[in-house]
Amino acid sequence: MIFMKRTLILSVAAIMFAACCSQPKFDGPVYLNPNAPVEERVEDALARMTLEEKVGMTHAQSKFSSRGVPRLGIPEVWHTDGPHGIRPEVLWDEWEQAGWTNDSCTAFPALVNLAATWDKEMALLFGRSIGEEARYRKKNILLGPGVNICRTPLNGRNFEYMGEDPYLSGAMVVPYVKGVQENGVAACVKHYAVNNQEFQRTQSNSVVDDRTLHEIYLPAFKAAVQEGGAWSIMGSYNLYNGQYNCHNKKLLMDILKGDWGFDGVVVSDWGGCRDSEEAIMNGLDIEMGTWTEGMQFGATDGYNLYHMADPYLKGIREGKYTTKELDDKVRRILRLIFRTSMRPGHNYGRFVCPEHYQAARDISAAGVVLLKNEENVLPLAVEEGARILVVGENAIKKMLVGGGSSSLKTAYEVTPLEGLQNAFAGKAEVVWARGYVGDTTTSFDNVDTGQDLTDDRSPEVLIAEAADMAKNADYVIFVGGLNKSGYQDCEGTDRLDTDLPYNQQDVIEALAAVSDKLVVVNISGSPVSMPWADKADAIVQGWYGGTESGNALADVLTGKVNPSGRLPFSVPFKYSDGPIQTLRQYPGIQEEGSEFWQTHYDEGVYVGYRWYEANDIPVQWAFGHGLSYTSFEYSNAKAAKASMKADGTLKVTVDVKNTGDCDGAEVVQLYIADPVASIDRPSKELKGFEKVYLKAGETAKVTFEIDAADLSFYDVAKGGWTAEPGEFQALIASSSADVRATVPFELK
Ligand code: BGC
Repeated sequence: MIFMKRTLILSVAAIMFAACCSQPKFDGPVYLNPNAPVEERVEDALARMTLEEKVGMTHAQSKFSSRGVPRLGIPEVWHTDGPHGIRPEVLWDEWEQAGWTNDSCTAFPALVNLAATWDKEMALLFGRSIGEEARYRKKNILLGPGVNICRTPLNGRNFEYMGEDPYLSGAMVVPYVKGVQENGVAACVKHYAVNNQEFQRTQSNSVVDDRTLHEIYLPAFKAAVQEGGAWSIMGSYNLYNGQYNCHNKKLLMDILKGDWGFDGVVVSDWGGCRDSEEAIMNGLDIEMGTWTEGMQFGATDGYNLYHMADPYLKGIREGKYTTKELDDKVRRILRLIFRTSMRPGHNYGRFVCPEHYQAARDISAAGVVLLKNEENVLPLAVEEGARILVVGENAIKKMLVGGGSSSLKTAYEVTPLEGLQNAFAGKAEVVWARGYVGDTTTSFDNVDTGQDLTDDRSPEVLIAEAADMAKNADYVIFVGGLNKSGYQDCEGTDRLDTDLPYNQQDVIEALAAVSDKLVVVNISGSPVSMPWADKADAIVQGWYGGTESGNALADVLTGKVNPSGRLPFSVPFKYSDGPIQTLRQYPGIQEEGSEFWQTHYDEGVYVGYRWYEANDIPVQWAFGHGLSYTSFEYSNAKAAKASMKADGTLKVTVDVKNTGDCDGAEVVQLYIADPVASIDRPSKELKGFEKVYLKAGETAKVTFEIDAADLSFYDVAKGGWTAEPGEFQALIASSSADVRATVPFELK
């Protein structure tokens, strides 16, 4: 007995000794103790701060930073764009790059490219990798990802977002956010909310009904906050309900911080804060980029003029405001700092490394979408000595500079032409013709690609040259589409129509007339009409693929990677087929005497495929469409039970077999249909997807778990979600237009 007691005492002592060795006693203040709980650190730091120090944290101190508490050793908060790579350092008060020589980053693919992978693992890899780059560059807040819905194909920023469907965007944003934040870097999900056009972006009021808001425009933000645990969110430039979104009471106080329980930081978009009172009272935490008079011209110290700077201090001193709101804002900012730069086990990230280049290449290739492949013209079957003609400006144009705030200065960029030349080096001759002259801009904010794209030849001459060269080519690969200049895929402006710009259609037609192996690669971040589609033998939807863009594209064209990307948006035959039917809807109407534009979301929840299906309008390429070099067969689709209860779940399974002779991946999609409902509902809605990689001949069972949330609509009368009992259908599909099995079930 005595022996046992002694052993026990000794073991307890050993444990205590080990514990105190692994965690030495911390003598300093609680807020500096990395092992203290975050909330205790927050309260301790807050209690030590002066009023001036608190107000100092709620607004910018430079273009991309906001203040810490120097006296207490609490570091500044460094923000960075986002969302595809880490923006080059800029001058303290300017957008212009600072000219550092160690800030050329890895460019990851545009978010629309990520969405097109339909692969959550890829989203995690993306988040982790870009998070590491942000950490290495000592940033606490990464300004991204963007999850605004592609409401109109004309929106200049569609390339920075994840397509037209709220479920797809939500499913992809969650792992991205988690991956970034694993690195001690806050993701800043943007642009919250109903910010779906660039036209008059700071003057446009989105008029959206509650159901549409909750069913289409908020779910991805909600998922980012509640499932991804996002530590920050960016308010958008536009207004909603007649109030600017950076201090919109309903969006920020009622929904985000109220209903969703968001405990992070609301950052304004740059210059999106307009009013002290609203910013203070309605939930803005950090005001960034405000163009006060001093700031506009790059003068220093304009920051004290910010809405949440001197006016805030003055208001508190005069008793207009208490410190209640201020303390809440500062708590959130401190919490973010303790989660990032002052977190325990602070790490250092990594930058421009082979692993990141490989990640960029893999993600980009996994999102390339094979739209059409007549007579299996792809993958390129190139014999020794073959001649491949590549035509088009986008084959050589470096695309990472441009597009607005997501513009990057990169370590390198492989163009499509270089990618193909790399792939066929020593095997085939790869030659190039210009075909058309598009936009020859090569710089943004003082970052220049170093290319000279000028070419004074006329369209006729360029077309004749390309067509002539095409006659002697085994394959012709036209690489065109949009670019990152104004009125294309670019922040600040929208496109004017959905056609291919710069007479590219003429080039395609001229090539089609002389080639029987014409592959058209459309590089864009938004849907492009393809009235010429019949003339091409194969059509590939490529994207702004980042540093490794050209290699990734070549991987797919050569068959090194079997295409498995799927469209994250519908491609209509023409713009007028789409949900935007009136000027009220887009670009909105400017009322007489008002500076504001009213943009009415009259189409309601009928966005993207929901619209085309409800109105029986055929599309050129359906949402979720994408071909492979192999084929897949679906069988045995069934539900585990015939019915489910509102508080239960239902498993639906399907067997998917790779029936071709090469390995490949299939994106198995689950849509839910509610054929009889008390309100008008879309004919079906995406509620699940799985990307399965299968060896030739291999079969896998794919399982989806359905719960009441998947069956619900937003009930305006109740102000919440409702799943009505009755019949439902689980549609197992390979695209929104290709349903392979219908599994009925009942909600009891
Ligand atoms: C953009 C944001 C961006 C910010 C900082 C704004 O113009 O809308 O997306 O993060 O600038 O560059």
